Amino acid sequence: MAVTIKSEQEIQLMRDAGKILAEVHERLAEIIAPGITTWDIDRKGEEMIREAGCIPSFKGYQGYPASICVSINDEVVHGIPNKDHRLFEGDIVSLDAGVIYQGYQSDAARTHGVGKVDPESQRLMDVTKESFFRGIEYARPGNHLYQVSAAIQRFVEKNGYSVVRALVGHGIGREMHEEPQIPNYKPMIRRGIRLRPGMTLAIEPMVNAGKYEVWMLEDDWTVVTRDGTRSAHYENTVLITEGDPEILSLL
Ligand code: MF3
Ligand code: CO
Repeated sequence: MAVTIKSEQEIQLMRDAGKILAEVHERLAEIIAPGITTWDIDRKGEEMIREAGCIPSFKGYQGYPASICVSINDEVVHGIPNKDHRLFEGDIVSLDAGVIYQGYQSDAARTHGVGKVDPESQRLMDVTKESFFRGIEYARPGNHLYQVSAAIQRFVEKNGYSVVRALVGHGIGREMHEEPQIPNYKPMIRRGIRLRPGMTLAIEPMVNAGKYEVWMLEDDWTVVTRDGTRSAHYENTVLITEGDPEILSLL
């Protein structure tokens, strides 16, 4: 399927979906504390998503068993919530969630510190978030997609970290994963599609403190850094407009 351009009506539904998801993230941030389990986070997240009249898009997606991906420390993405997995003071935890509202999807991720975290972990989270904003400065009509990718990579590497290459962002709309794929690094050849108003994109830098290589755990979901260093994730669903990009999943 080709890249879709959303109508004004579809965009309004994606705004609604994004706003709900942004609120879910804000409220999940408030419960992050030492002692809670990753299971608690998933239960609370799914409850809020359903109360808002949405469907949790991750649940059952290719067999994924939960509504919120919860990834701690060296876990990059797709950690599976577990009753026995507790957060400890000093951990960093990435929460990735997706909702479907009246047929339209939104996808967003945040990384939080648990209690007081060491300055280097804080810097990793800050650089990851900032790299998203550096990237979307290029998310304008007429620009090529990989200008966004290159800006993310530049900022991350300038700060001494690496961008994960095995996983990418994506177009989003009626489906969670639509074209195009959105790498967080500049591919060697090609410039990427030309951006146009009405495109909706999930842009999601995943940043490792060490090297960019990742492994998959035995559960066939959890992606971890190969070198055991910590990793952070920050994602929003973004609309390309005639002017500045509109971040749909942020209040
Ligand atoms: N947010 C993820 C993405 O952007 C999707 C999570 S995978 C799932 O691809 F299985 F949990 F849905
Ligand atoms: Co995504």
